[in-house]
Amino acid sequence: MNILDGKLVSAKIKEDIKKEAAAFTAQSGRKPHLVAILVGNDGGSETYVASKMRNCELVGFESTNVRYNVDVSEEELIAKIKEINKDPNIDGLIVQLPLPKHIDPEKITETIDYRKDVDGFHPINLGRMQRNLPCFMPATPYGIMLMLEYYNIDTEGKKAVVVGRSNIVGGPMSILLARNSHPGNCTVTLTHSRTVNLKDEVLAGDIVIAAIGRKHFVTADMVKEGAVVVDVGINREESKETKSGFKLYGDVDFDEVSKKSSWITPVPGGVGLMTIVGLLKNTLEAAKGTIY
Ligand code: GUN
Repeated sequence: MNILDGKLVSAKIKEDIKKEAAAFTAQSGRKPHLVAILVGNDGGSETYVASKMRNCELVGFESTNVRYNVDVSEEELIAKIKEINKDPNIDGLIVQLPLPKHIDPEKITETIDYRKDVDGFHPINLGRMQRNLPCFMPATPYGIMLMLEYYNIDTEGKKAVVVGRSNIVGGPMSILLARNSHPGNCTVTLTHSRTVNLKDEVLAGDIVIAAIGRKHFVTADMVKEGAVVVDVGINREESKETKSGFKLYGDVDFDEVSKKSSWITPVPGGVGLMTIVGLLKNTLEAAKGTIY
């Protein structure tokens, strides 16, 4: 079993981003700037946004966290997004999900200017990604591709099984792995809650991407000997063992699955750190204007 080490890879790529950010700042007289809008005070979202802001500072970006109470109206949020869309000193804008029920996430996503959509959620970016055109790719799938690339994982012609069809991870991941690119050129099966015989589908995978959001959902009996296993799960449970009061569990039963896999990502220390890298890379590209 080999570890796909998110800590190592993210640190290396962040060093490169830091250098490029410094060059951008020297040339333009301003730092790449990411704005994150956070509505309400969901514990997970608070943690993720704080981490995004901290990492921006680490690589020399400017970051702004715009916060709203949980009862903010959809109109007010949309007005703010439109204002940011027009601001030439802001390169990237993300609205942290999930949003409260009275706000339509699709409407919010489509209000963000696709040229500032560093989450890669706008339908224009999604469509361009499917066509293999320059675009912002969703941060988690992008980060996973960077990790597969770093370790030179052979994906050519392999059977990849994605577990979970979310807009944020499973859906775009299945598109990226199927594209004519490296990494890519996989034969992709996208599985979900209605999949019949899920275990047999996952067992066929040379590459398994677990993005279902359920603690230790993928067990050793579901994984082929020698498979590459990527665990996207960040399942938070309260714990007295840790300083934060929470413990993170992946979607994969790491202790058992790692005995069969050729490569596997740990949780924490795997995909989560690569998601940040994907977001930072998109923000830098947005500042440089190399995509749009
Ligand atoms: N919620 C969970 N993951 C993400 C993400 O990558 N971006 C945003 N905006 N919200 C999320």
